[in-house]
Amino acid sequence: MLMEVLKLWIKGCSIIVFDVPLLFEAKIDKWTKPIVVIWIDPETQLQRLMTRDGSMEEEAKSRINAQMSLDLKRSKADIVIDNTSSLEALHEQFQKVLAQITKPLTWTEFVFSRNGAFLALFSTFVSVSIFKKSS
Ligand SMILES: *[C@@H]1O[C@H](CO)[C@@H](O)[C@H](O)[C@H]1NC(C)=O
Repeated sequence: MLMEVLKLWIKGCSIIVFDVPLLFEAKIDKWTKPIVVIWIDPETQLQRLMTRDGSMEEEAKSRINAQMSLDLKRSKADIVIDNTSSLEALHEQFQKVLAQITKPLTWTEFVFSRNGAFLALFSTFVSVSIFKKSS
């Protein structure tokens, strides 16, 4: 995964999306920003899971309980997408999130970005060259 990220970063990708169901459990959340959680209320989650897998209530419940609760995940998220209603509503929210994450970086974000790193490297190089010439 780290190699993939490095490859994409070198290629110049400014946004890399990780689709990780166990992001918090695997402690990968320390390295990603922003964290987007797709949330639904527990009752809908149970109903949808049973419909999707054709599973019984007990089975579906134990699968849900094996993971960190969506409410806890929501509290750790930077952005929450509510997927309780229709697919159209989901698309609409997604467009907003996309606009939010593609907006220009703040200065602090820039410093830690790829271009920020290159600029820092370039500035250091130029400073060192000037310093060498003048001494
Ligand atoms: C959102 O809900 C729809 C059902 O309306 C489901 O098919 C879809 O997988 C859900 N999307 C996410 C990202 O959880």
